[in-house]
Amino acid sequence: MAAVGIDAMEIWTGKLVLDLPNTFAPVKDEAPAKYTKGLGLTGSSLPDVYEDIVTMGANACKRLMERKGLTPNDIGRIDVATESSFDRSKPASTYIAGCLEQVFDGDFSHTNKGERKFACLSGTQAIDDACNWIRAGRHRGRGALVVVTDTALYERDDPGEATQGAGAVAIYITETPSVVALSREQGIGSKDETDFLKPNQQFPSVDGKRSIGVYLDRVREALHDYESVAGRIHKADVAFLPFHTPFPGMVRKAALMTYRHLIDGTDEANALRELVGEAPDADAFDDAEAYKKARYDHQKAIRKTPLYREWYEATVQPTLSLSRRTGNWYTGSVHIARASALLEAAQHDVDIAGQRMLVGSYGSGAQAEMHTETVCPGWHAEIDALTIVEQLDARYDLSFDEYERVHQAHTYDVEVAVEPFTTPNNEFVFSGYGAMGERQ
Ligand code: CAA
Repeated sequence: MAAVGIDAMEIWTGKLVLDLPNTFAPVKDEAPAKYTKGLGLTGSSLPDVYEDIVTMGANACKRLMERKGLTPNDIGRIDVATESSFDRSKPASTYIAGCLEQVFDGDFSHTNKGERKFACLSGTQAIDDACNWIRAGRHRGRGALVVVTDTALYERDDPGEATQGAGAVAIYITETPSVVALSREQGIGSKDETDFLKPNQQFPSVDGKRSIGVYLDRVREALHDYESVAGRIHKADVAFLPFHTPFPGMVRKAALMTYRHLIDGTDEANALRELVGEAPDADAFDDAEAYKKARYDHQKAIRKTPLYREWYEATVQPTLSLSRRTGNWYTGSVHIARASALLEAAQHDVDIAGQRMLVGSYGSGAQAEMHTETVCPGWHAEIDALTIVEQLDARYDLSFDEYERVHQAHTYDVEVAVEPFTTPNNEFVFSGYGAMGERQ
């Protein structure tokens, strides 16, 4: 089998936007630059009151199936990856399949459905499962739908409130991919952690500062593990670096670490050392705070070098253009980063067929996964078909008072009637609960 990978994707954003520098920052009495420069965000996509993980996922799938001319008979698997699940028994994929059966001929009665959970990582795991299902020859010529969908809301006044988001990506996996082919090799960095969790609660308990360190540790381990099976990977091997993006500032940190690894042992590492000196050695410091500051200053100096800046602007910056506007979509975030890089290349009319991306996924709790993807010849047409930029432009811009009401409307244990801010257009909407408490 030549290649297995992503044949098509569709992205669906929540229909509302919270403007972080102009609406959120003033109420929080914080500088807009904390959001735009520090976290790297301008807005958070939020769900209107008739949207949830099922409607967003089903709408992304509907658009994908219509565009690709697919019917339920073409789809042998539907896996939903989410950390916003509302049912501990019935997977969200059954709800999504139920929606799709209302509008497409045929049914999903011979389609294997499931729900995957490992925080933000599980979409990548579901793609891996789908690829292996095809490689094992169990697909009977059919493709797999992986749906990553989340309403990433934090408790009001939690520091994570600045990094919220909501949206879905439908990803179609086949043995004749048009967008990217996935490497068989993968690296894993995994350790039982409590950086971010939701034990029987809607909103997460998160140790935000520690979660940043845990992310970096697991990604570093996954990169080393990947190289242990795939061989050393160098800067020149990597056209783009789509990483899990809870907020672009997080990727800024992970990218610096990755760059130093990619150039390790090369002339570029020597050139960098001449410009900024050796990295500070922890053993040379008695005081942990003094070491932290020396390390921070050294990293800042690297970021200012033309060597680093040129690499970052070409390899990392393009992966952030969507997430800057959407906030964190949890399971969707790394898939938004891939789409973002491809969209940027398409907009600049650069042919990147044959080039490789180093894709880094992360889920709190905690595990990172690393693999490479090779861009396929048909990528440009697929990416040109995406409407995500138009969708982002069309979002309803919430006032702070409206944001408070929307947040309440999406809080499970608060009953509040809020009028929608937008009008649905030929799409699935959440209309209430059925007799058995199921969503409809
Ligand atoms: N101008 C420019 N920059 C500014 C600034 C200003 N006026 N004010 C602050 N900043 C910078 C800060 O220096 C900081 O950048 P550095 O980390 O590079 O120094 C950045 O803006 C954020 O400022 P704070 O650290 O003060 O922000 P905070 O205390 O409000 O919290 C956070 C930030 C911890 C990330 C919080 O938003 C949070 O808890 N988020 C949720 C957890 C999360 O996303 N963790 C990421 C890893 S875990 C993961 O990836 C899984 C997942 O999806 C959740």
